[in-house]
Amino acid sequence: MPSQVRIVEVGPRDGLQNEKSIIATADKIALIDRLSATGLRSIEATSFVSPKWVPQLADAAEVYAGIARQPGVSYPVLVPNEQGYERARAVGVSEIAVFTAASEAFNRKNINAGIDESLARFAPVMARAQADGVKVRGYVSTVLGCPYQGEVPLADVVRVARALHGMGCYEVSLGDTIGVGTPGKARAMLKAVAAEVPMPALAVHFHDTYGQALSNILACLEEGVAVVDAAVSGTGGCPYAKGASGNVASEDVVYMLHGLGVGTGVDLDRLAETGRWLAALLGRETGSKAGKALLSR
Ligand code: HMG
Ligand code: MG
Repeated sequence: MPSQVRIVEVGPRDGLQNEKSIIATADKIALIDRLSATGLRSIEATSFVSPKWVPQLADAAEVYAGIARQPGVSYPVLVPNEQGYERARAVGVSEIAVFTAASEAFNRKNINAGIDESLARFAPVMARAQADGVKVRGYVSTVLGCPYQGEVPLADVVRVARALHGMGCYEVSLGDTIGVGTPGKARAMLKAVAAEVPMPALAVHFHDTYGQALSNILACLEEGVAVVDAAVSGTGGCPYAKGASGNVASEDVVYMLHGLGVGTGVDLDRLAETGRWLAALLGRETGSKAGKALLSR
């Protein structure tokens, strides 16, 4: 079990990308600024993907330009190709995330490319990022199952994670996109990847579709992973992953970690307050059990 865990807050991106009604740019900016005041050190701000594919994040440039970036906090953004890279750089982005999947079928639906084609597409992005001093995170989706292909062989997860790390991603996030994993499988998957990519370069990214996310995270912490993706208020889901529901809620992860004596640097009360603010904005109850309990004390 690590003594410190870095939470990568993906709410403003993964959390909002699947929302049906368009959220005002000013509200997206307010969300990120609130998150910046909680002690989080990594906040994924938005995506420079095609606005035809993800209309909700069409205002990526305005959002990024509008946030009050805090020293010591990184604000990575998703970039699918060189066009996205150029848009991101035009507003001064200094950390990006490239994303692909261990499933060929999911990749076709999500980014209109096969696995190898997507990796080839990232090569010029990686080269430019390296030349520009831009940090690059990598995502592997569908690591424990695919909505189109079903089972995903572990060897495919390992191959794609190794490829992203080998291309220069400082960290590779392993995503259970549709939240079908269970702790034994999550642990085995992480172990297999960690045999090829050093554990300090790995992160885990769970969706809570079947209520397994915290258990999966605990199993992975026991294997030594020290970076966990989560979304405040448990929002989210991928528009191209049929059946995917919200991300694990950041408040729940932080509550569990603090209970385990693991430091996060996050002020849980402030985070819960932000979760409540976001839920009110979206017009629904928070998706975080810890958030709900903390606020009703
Ligand atoms: P495509 O249609 O094959 O691309 O999409 P294209 O190159 O043919 O371009 C089509 C149009 O999009 C063109 O415009 C381009 O200019 C434009 P037109 O000529 O028709 O007017 N375009 C762009 N515009 C702005 N920014 C760009 C950009 N690129 C092209 N960067 C593409 C391929 C990759 C672009 C598309 O499939 C796409 O944007 N996909 C993104 C889907 C997405 O964001 N999914 C959710 C994120 S992944 C996820 O949630 C999983 C994760 O959370 C981990 C997990 O849970 O497992 C990360
Ligand atoms: Mg996700």
